Amino acid sequence: MNEVLVKCEKLDHFGRGLSHVLGKIIFVPNLLPNEEALVKIVLNKKKYMVGEIIKLVKISDDRIRPKCSYESCGCALKSLNYSKTLEFKKNKVTEILKRYGNLENVVKEIIPSDNIYGYRNKITLKIKGGKIGYFKNGINELIEINRCEIASEKSNEIIRVLKRCDLSKVREVIIKDFGEVMVIIKGDMDINALKPLVTSIYMNGKLVCGNENIIVELGDFKFYVSKDSFFQVNTKVALKLYNRVLKYLDNSGGKSILDLYSGTGTISLFLSKYFKEVTAIEINEEAVKCAFLNKELNNISNVRFICGDVSKEIHNLKADNIVVDPPRSGLSIDGINDILKINPERLVYVSCDPMTLARDLKKLEENYEVKEVTLFDMFPWTYHVESVCLLIRKKDNKKE
Ligand SMILES: C[S@@+](CC[C@H](N)C(=O)[O-])C[C@H]1O[C@@H](n2cnc3c(N)ncnc32)[C@H](O)[C@@H]1O
Repeated sequence: MNEVLVKCEKLDHFGRGLSHVLGKIIFVPNLLPNEEALVKIVLNKKKYMVGEIIKLVKISDDRIRPKCSYESCGCALKSLNYSKTLEFKKNKVTEILKRYGNLENVVKEIIPSDNIYGYRNKITLKIKGGKIGYFKNGINELIEINRCEIASEKSNEIIRVLKRCDLSKVREVIIKDFGEVMVIIKGDMDINALKPLVTSIYMNGKLVCGNENIIVELGDFKFYVSKDSFFQVNTKVALKLYNRVLKYLDNSGGKSILDLYSGTGTISLFLSKYFKEVTAIEINEEAVKCAFLNKELNNISNVRFICGDVSKEIHNLKADNIVVDPPRSGLSIDGINDILKINPERLVYVSCDPMTLARDLKKLEENYEVKEVTLFDMFPWTYHVESVCLLIRKKDNKKE
């Protein structure tokens, strides 16, 4: 039997409808809680199945008509009313922190995105056989697209131009739109049609048109964005998030801060206005070069950037407070031990993966109290969410 009738019980952590049928769990993308559907089984494993909706039999009041009709793109929640997507993300992080971190009642609120469409400042387009699209959930099957609703209008204009070009020798195109626009091409193509739309173009790692870096304005600051360095994908939400980091650090003046996994130095430079000295560690050389340029661009003198691996560079450093913003993999055991040795009064943990956050908080809780977590909807319609967590050193663990 490869067609079944299912009733969705809830969404799993990846935003797929979860049901039980034929004695197994079945995950159905795009099926919402309480909906019923006739489903085709597309994967049948020992313990679970994956299905595709053939026909919706009962439709949820929370279902909306999505702005795009591409199946299996990254927007797993695009058929759900926006306020319900926020509820889903808050419940998901609350559940993960409880189950894997033994933490209850710490998630206070979720801050929505001002723009729920057109919010992404960076998109990565895959090209196969001259066609443009996204790869279906990590496999190399291309979903061809004409536009992407979460990308900026300028990015969509570039997609339209690209579609008229010969892309037979191109594998990937990255578009970074911060007002100034950078296009990064893997492969070969004629770039003349793109030139009027962009500030800079890279082809196979080489700058072939315009400026080496582009500039983004964020609050009172300006930052360079380079070809390879990380920048938060939703600029407006990033600013709100940095303000929350500042609030959690409870600026009482005269304190030293350590910013670990600092990227192009955005958090460091943002904090430099309010703290005596900031030391930042980042492994990506290009990001650190950008960070130095950013320091100059903003006329800041009290920030020190160190290029290297946090686990190697952190030894012998001291700080009153620490901010960490690691990649999805979270902190290493050594990294946590080093932070515990430095014993900062406050620790602010910015995380894009609640699973690794929960794991790390469980270890940090030996010496720290997890005060609260604020969520930021950096990635509307996807199942992803950014967390900012405040930890305060326990009283019996005071510095001598
Ligand atoms: C989530 S980003 C944070 C960037 C920055 N805080 C921001 O808001 O733009 C994580 C950064 O950690 C850096 N990174 C990854 N592993 C590292 C390591 N072992 N040591 C230092 N930096 C690392 C990456 O290059 C990336 O820039």
